[in-house]
Amino acid sequence: MTVTVRKAVIPAAGLGTRFLPVTKATPKEMLPVVDKPAIQYVVEEAATAGLFDALLVTGRNKRALEDHFDRNHELATALADKGDMARLAAIETSEELAKIHYVRQGDPRGLGHAVLCAAAHIGAEPFAVLLGDDLIDPRDPLLTEMLEVQQEYGGCVIALTEVDPVAVSRYGCAAVSPAKPSEPVRVTDLVEKPAPDQAPSNLAVIGRYVLAPEIFDVLRATPPGRGGEIQLTDAIRNVATGAAAGGSVHGVIFRGSRYDTGDRSEYLQAVVRLACKHEDLGSQFSDWLKKFAATEI
Ligand code: UTP
Repeated sequence: MTVTVRKAVIPAAGLGTRFLPVTKATPKEMLPVVDKPAIQYVVEEAATAGLFDALLVTGRNKRALEDHFDRNHELATALADKGDMARLAAIETSEELAKIHYVRQGDPRGLGHAVLCAAAHIGAEPFAVLLGDDLIDPRDPLLTEMLEVQQEYGGCVIALTEVDPVAVSRYGCAAVSPAKPSEPVRVTDLVEKPAPDQAPSNLAVIGRYVLAPEIFDVLRATPPGRGGEIQLTDAIRNVATGAAAGGSVHGVIFRGSRYDTGDRSEYLQAVVRLACKHEDLGSQFSDWLKKFAATEI
């Protein structure tokens, strides 16, 4: 019998060193993308896919994340007194998106270790992992598609994207067996940040996963890998190659827009792209941007 996925794990305990100094005291997941922090898009994505139980893996310096999803009575009362119902609704949205839980990672010992911190909350069910700094265009149904694949094939499902072969060394990279265009690919191996000439493909792993609960035992047995961190990729690799339990690993190839908001350049791209499409600001901002690009770049 297939078990429906209900819970999302959102790792957000990383140090964000690529974005210093702004991330010295502000979590990178709280950086604004137009008028919402990056993490809100991620929680919204989980809720849109039907996952209304979200566990945020946080750490020191991450208190702002909890405040953002908590009630702020003082602000709510002030907005209600002024009759500013639109802004009141905007702050209440973040409080009502999902039932949000928190666990602390202590020391950031890698993404695999962050996922392992979710073991008690998840129990024996399959679950989704959405990286807190990875923003998928809100109109793209990637996660829903991944959940459908997991329901059909069981095991684990990862999201892959085609990258320039020279850029593959920045990602986990998948070896896959051929599949019909309408089917998900079967992942046979994964290599973390390979040199371009050692990469099994140009399919890079991006920050969305649907995992079988067996992954926790695999992670417990996974020694620290690259950078002395417990790598989620290493654990999924063991499942994909059959060296560990957890069923098959399938890959959904994502062709839409995604942004690593922990990278300064991609963060700026996310802000500009989403500002251009924003309901209120979009047309005014796009007009300004066109003039700016024509005259100043
Ligand atoms: P990154 O490698 O992008 O995060 O991890 P980082 O370590 O914060 O980034 P830099 O390289 O120092 O700038 C991907 C995701 O995994 C989380 C991060 O918060 C991010 O959402 N993560 C990473 C953890 O929760 N714990 C960790 O130990 C490492």
